[in-house]
Amino acid sequence: MAGLIPRSFINDIIAKADIVDIVNSRVKLKKAGTNNYQACCPFHHEKTPSFTVSKTKQFYHCFGCGAHGNALSFLMEYDKLEFVEAVEELANILGLDVPREETRGKSDKPYVNYQTKKDLYQLMQEIAELYQQQLPKSQLAQDYLQQRGLSKEIIQRFSIGFVPDSYDLVVRQFGHNKEEQERLFSLGMVKRSERGKVYDTFRNRIMFPIRDRRGRVIAFGGRVIGDGTPKYLNSPDTVTYHKGNELYGLYEALKINDSPEQLLVVEGYMDVVALAQFDVNYAVASLGTATTPEQINQIFRSTEQVICCYDGDRAGRAAAWRALENALPYLEDGRQLKFVFLPDGEDPDTYIRQYGKQQFEDYLQQAQSLSDFLFDHLLKDVKLATKEGKSKLAALAVPLIERIPGEMLRIYLNNILASKLGIIDPKQIEALLAQPQQKSAVQKMPEVKRTPMRLLIALLLQNPELAQLEYDVSDIASLNEPGLALFDKLTRVCRDNVGITLGQILEYFRDTEDYKPLEILSTWDHLIEEEQISTTYIETYEFLLAQIIERRIEQLIAKDRTESLDSEEKQELFKLLSGRAK
Ligand code: UTP
Ligand code: MN
Repeated sequence: MAGLIPRSFINDIIAKADIVDIVNSRVKLKKAGTNNYQACCPFHHEKTPSFTVSKTKQFYHCFGCGAHGNALSFLMEYDKLEFVEAVEELANILGLDVPREETRGKSDKPYVNYQTKKDLYQLMQEIAELYQQQLPKSQLAQDYLQQRGLSKEIIQRFSIGFVPDSYDLVVRQFGHNKEEQERLFSLGMVKRSERGKVYDTFRNRIMFPIRDRRGRVIAFGGRVIGDGTPKYLNSPDTVTYHKGNELYGLYEALKINDSPEQLLVVEGYMDVVALAQFDVNYAVASLGTATTPEQINQIFRSTEQVICCYDGDRAGRAAAWRALENALPYLEDGRQLKFVFLPDGEDPDTYIRQYGKQQFEDYLQQAQSLSDFLFDHLLKDVKLATKEGKSKLAALAVPLIERIPGEMLRIYLNNILASKLGIIDPKQIEALLAQPQQKSAVQKMPEVKRTPMRLLIALLLQNPELAQLEYDVSDIASLNEPGLALFDKLTRVCRDNVGITLGQILEYFRDTEDYKPLEILSTWDHLIEEEQISTTYIETYEFLLAQIIERRIEQLIAKDRTESLDSEEKQELFKLLSGRAK
């Protein structure tokens, strides 16, 4: 068990790191103004940049999707790291070792620290290379791939390899001792026999490495040569691989075009690879399962148009329906989801080999819109001619439509539903929609009601140097006024750490009850002009102070009338009244 990372170290690396460098190493930034940088947002798809990084604030914010935070938040979001891993990565970038407190944690969960996790990615990469090296040595494997029509170039581009019929190719190369074998085991690359002997998981298969968004090899899919079961053997879920989160071919597709018009979701490895060979470079595969919400989210981060392509059979239609259900919470206005079903017995691989790129893309043109697919599917079990049928359709469709965050799309679908039900005024359907409670799966900040206290905190948070102005909260901080204690705390943090940035302040408060309100105010547009900020700040402060004192005086006087004040309260009232007189 590793000990906890001292908070002071975390605050320290946040102070040392420059968020502009961190972000720029992953997303190319352009200068926009003296201290700001811009890019197209890496967390949602867009054509004009609304993602900004501020050097002075050490903070990023996307005006489009609301993503925001400091350098650690960025690493967590972008690299998909846990908090501790992000700290380790940031320390690593700065060339620092992460200190650990001696205390032992309570959790029994095996702890994989980031260094080892990084080693695990490296090991997976080396195994992929080993498999690639085996391919030219096997006539059988080469013949099979040739018979499947794969070109040298495409085998190379997808790093396709081969593992011979051996119980210990990987073990021999990478499992020299117990510790190394344990690592292979945690990656699902070896298994243990009852007698404790380790042996390779994958044997005698064509190997497809599965990469994450950043191109790191995280898992494998292995196909038998010819017939045999299972047809595809896949890595189990491991520390580096969560099947439902990944899409086969996404990295390869984005490498060719990092902002594709559209992405096509298909079912199989071979489909992705064959399409790419025919220059259809925008296909990804959902790795055997139904397309999950996390996969939908991943795809909509890269494009606004998604076509799901499935077999025309029952299973294909069922898979498409599940994809639709999972996608609803991600359907912001401007995003498009379509469905296309291939003729019986065809998959994208066989189709494109038989008919070529042009005809395949023509076929995609016939994709059904979301609304067509949705209503076709629901109407299969409904007799619209009857009254019962109509109410059944409404009962089925309304809850689905409610889950869509995009308002235009929702209205559009409501109108269609209304016309199917023979209702002239779609408002009648809106009445059926219990409450518009669609929750967007996309992160959005709540609306902030403007109050003097919020304004004060937001101004200070976004301009920590304001704390150097002369004002004193100590006298009134104890008053039971919402927000005042936080304002006091914030002032002290800024005064104790001259030069502190917004990014550092948020780090300071992470995991405390104050984090959420601060986070909301960190991106709140307070609408105060740059030159007006410090005067507004002091004026707001004084206004608020006077208001609070006035209220407290009233309170004490009222109490004096009804139940009389104790000596402490009398003193307080006296102090407040004489203060007001000044
Ligand atoms: P298919 O059975 O449709 O295979 O499985 P395919 O993609 O057409 O493969 P080829 O053309 O016969 O080589 C579609 C996908 O389902 C998953 C794989 O991801 C596969 O690509 N699958 C299928 C498995 O994971 N295991 C299996 O045994 C079969
Ligand atoms: Mn196939």
